[in-house]
Amino acid sequence: MVVSDGGISRRQVLKAGGGVAVTAAGYGPLTTARAFAAAAGAARPAASSREVLALDQGWRFFEGDIPFPEILGQDESYDNAKAGKAWGAAAPSFDDSDWADVRLPHDFVSFQPIEADANRAQGYRRRGIAWYRTALRFDPADQGRHIELQIDGIATHATIWFNGTVVDRNWSGYNGITIDLTPFAAFGDDLNTLAIRVDAHAMEGWWYEGGGLYRPVRIVKRDPVHIITDGVYAHPVPQGDGWVLPVEVTVYNSGKTTAAMMVISTLEDAEGRVVASGQAPVSVPALEQGMARLDLTVASPRLWSVETPTLYRVQTRLMAGDRCVDAVTTTCGFRTTRFDKDKGFFLNGRPLKIKGVCVHQDHAGVGTAIPDALWDYRIRRLKELGCNAIRCTHNAPSAVVLDLCDRYGLLVMDENRQFNPSPDTLAQLEWMVRRDRNHPSVILWSVFNEEPMQGSAAGYEMVRRMAHAVKALDCTRPVTAAMNGGLFTPVNVSQAVDVVGFNYQQDKYDAFHAAHPDVPLISSEDTSAFSTRGAYVTDKDSRTIAGYDDPVKDWNTHRAAWKAIATRDFIAGGFVWTGFDYHGEPSPWGWPSNSSFYGIMDLCGFAKAAFHIHQAQWVTDRPVLALVPHWNWAGREGQPIKVMACANMEEVELFLNGRSQGRQAVDPYEMNHWMVPYSPGRLEAVGYAGGKVTARALVETTGPAVALRLTPDRDRLRGDGLDATPVMVEAIDAQGRPVPLAQDMVTFTIEGGDIIGLGNGDPNSAAPEKGDRRALFNGLAQVIVQTRAGSRGALTLTATAPGLKSARARVAIERAAAPAEQATAPSDLILDTWYAAPLVATAAEALAYRNADMTAWDDFGTRWAHDPQTADGYTLCSVRFTPQAKVGRQGGRLAFLSLVGACDVYEGGRLLGRKTETAPGPLTVALAPGAGVRRLDVLFRTPAGAEFGFSRNVAVRQA
Ligand code: GAL
Repeated sequence: MVVSDGGISRRQVLKAGGGVAVTAAGYGPLTTARAFAAAAGAARPAASSREVLALDQGWRFFEGDIPFPEILGQDESYDNAKAGKAWGAAAPSFDDSDWADVRLPHDFVSFQPIEADANRAQGYRRRGIAWYRTALRFDPADQGRHIELQIDGIATHATIWFNGTVVDRNWSGYNGITIDLTPFAAFGDDLNTLAIRVDAHAMEGWWYEGGGLYRPVRIVKRDPVHIITDGVYAHPVPQGDGWVLPVEVTVYNSGKTTAAMMVISTLEDAEGRVVASGQAPVSVPALEQGMARLDLTVASPRLWSVETPTLYRVQTRLMAGDRCVDAVTTTCGFRTTRFDKDKGFFLNGRPLKIKGVCVHQDHAGVGTAIPDALWDYRIRRLKELGCNAIRCTHNAPSAVVLDLCDRYGLLVMDENRQFNPSPDTLAQLEWMVRRDRNHPSVILWSVFNEEPMQGSAAGYEMVRRMAHAVKALDCTRPVTAAMNGGLFTPVNVSQAVDVVGFNYQQDKYDAFHAAHPDVPLISSEDTSAFSTRGAYVTDKDSRTIAGYDDPVKDWNTHRAAWKAIATRDFIAGGFVWTGFDYHGEPSPWGWPSNSSFYGIMDLCGFAKAAFHIHQAQWVTDRPVLALVPHWNWAGREGQPIKVMACANMEEVELFLNGRSQGRQAVDPYEMNHWMVPYSPGRLEAVGYAGGKVTARALVETTGPAVALRLTPDRDRLRGDGLDATPVMVEAIDAQGRPVPLAQDMVTFTIEGGDIIGLGNGDPNSAAPEKGDRRALFNGLAQVIVQTRAGSRGALTLTATAPGLKSARARVAIERAAAPAEQATAPSDLILDTWYAAPLVATAAEALAYRNADMTAWDDFGTRWAHDPQTADGYTLCSVRFTPQAKVGRQGGRLAFLSLVGACDVYEGGRLLGRKTETAPGPLTVALAPGAGVRRLDVLFRTPAGAEFGFSRNVAVRQA
């Protein structure tokens, strides 16, 4: 690594303690769905030769394994040891023509049925092995460019072949991979085969993890001298009275000579005005990396905060003289963070209690293959909750999650998956820090969750090494670990971290603080309370848990866990287990329960009562008042029903059909409760502050359901084939009120888009999450719809259910360019085992060889022109092949990418095509359908002294 110094090292810039005042508003908090639409497509890098191409289409998928053929022969063993000679489904010529076409992101496990004998933690869905293949076409103009494959995540163990050579093996489902394809790449008509074997038998978690290519994949083409992936580190830190933005840019040179270049970085504010710029030279020898450093100073930037998440853009260009060779845009935010041993967390010098939730990475209907737009919905739901932080449990999230947290203003505890400082796993941790260290939202690096070695000297040594690796890449954020024990042993992990994370163990907050008064503390995980959305009676037989937040485990509720944090300044805040239900880890019961009961929201993001409890606890800038439960208790007339009001004002009064049931001082931790004898009608709560009414909440007894209602989360989508929205499905009574206990089966039809998943938040339902039907569960279901590429106008979803008036939702689709795509094609069958018959004087003699056995003939290789014959004559070259299944059925094309010499092409007695010129050139002929082994013969006219043969590939192509 070569370092060119245009500035000071980040290590020299010490993190200041805060005290910086929040200035004017920037983008403003993007709390509406429109923010997502506006932000998509923002941040265009400056013009350079860098091309970022999506590789989410053109994939073929096989569910199951394809065992490699056993290698017994000498020649096969020899070949097997060679680059480019992969066997079986990894071979370029493998027949994948009958595989399924799939689009990424693709979680193949989410298509599996939920079955009692499959793994409980993984949501009773089978995982197994699968293969993905695609064939890439690179333009001849791409020759000389640096071509990189970027895979953001594969669950779980993956082997990746490119053109028959293993180019990577990856052992975690949660880290991204970048692979330099340049040395292996072919251009023009030669296709490039990418084959991936995924083994999702391997599990890294005890929750639903999905399987396959479930995150984005892309091809990035750059100049040989370029900024490496995640190669710009630009995270501002305060310095003196102002700020400095140290920019570190890592450049790689896959060219053949040393490159001397200039790195220029400019900082743009939210309006696109340049507020600072600087430059530094970098000189990078061939096949090495070099780093340029420069500092940008900013006197008084607008600060990033959870209320006002102002973002700046860093435009970094790599210049060769006047030519921009590469350019990268990164975002950053100006903010200070500090964890204080007595006073908790400070953002921009002000105390901020961390009101966080833990989040896994799956959703109803789609498993882990979550479109960006659905993440946007999830993050907006969390903002609505009043949450200001997420913990990415227990793994690095998809990149889009952090972009959204930056934009909406959520703090992030970013977490590593594997607790292990050995090289492979340490590299995963380093990858995470390198990718995520520019995000202003990220405030903590967590190296583990609940590791049995946490109380041992070995655990301490492991964390010491991992923390050291983190700090070599980013020393502006503290390292933590989520400990559920071992805190008081003589040598333990708490001694190797900056902030000690408590998982549960509320009973030890005070004792640990007393014993270690200098150590900042946070509740990295708490609560784990159970509830079923929309249910208010606990019934073990139906696997239902009421949503009143009654203690089911003897030690925890949403209310008690938060009270323990809120009443202690020295606890920086906490992360509730969990924000949303997730597939897998069904507790407290197993089958038929198959998803968790822990969420503040269900699998679809619909609110449980815990949502209102936390809103009451966390929201301070507006009145919150909600009533629990529903008021449809036919058959329970006169019997007491427990009513809970979740409120954040001073007093709350409950009325049933206009009669006061009592006014109470609001209890901000426990909520307010009444036992009310049921009679149908109106249950109303009134909230008061300073003696004035500040909020009202109403729950009414509804009539029977008469109709369905569909409510899309967004009313406008981009027709780019990626944009998606959840649509809420309800049953309503004659007055249009949602019927809380409706369980009707609903069938959907869609025009102008696709249904990509369905859910209803019922943790006990084993119904498929794909297809066109879903029952309402306690009044609600969800359909996730996605646009098609190139579409415009509208997407129309229709819902029908027996006995109910059907509903229709129309979502406008605006024309939007799909992201630039890498060109792909169906796989070719490469014909490379040709044999040449002896030279003969006449065409007739040569053609007579068409029926001859080839075994005694000479091998006739492809991809080069053969030495000329020594006498004039004719040479017959033949090959046997078995066409791809699809070509066998439908016919195809035989493509000679470059034929040298004049020739005729035969199959049996049929002349398929003729090339009359002798100069090298392509020839494509039609192939008739026909399964099984077939033979082709090429009759070359071979004058003495003239080269002939196949100077490039010969391919059988699907029609
Ligand atoms: C925690 C663990 C979580 C989840 C939770 C369920 O101990 O960190 O991943 O399993 O328990 O209560």
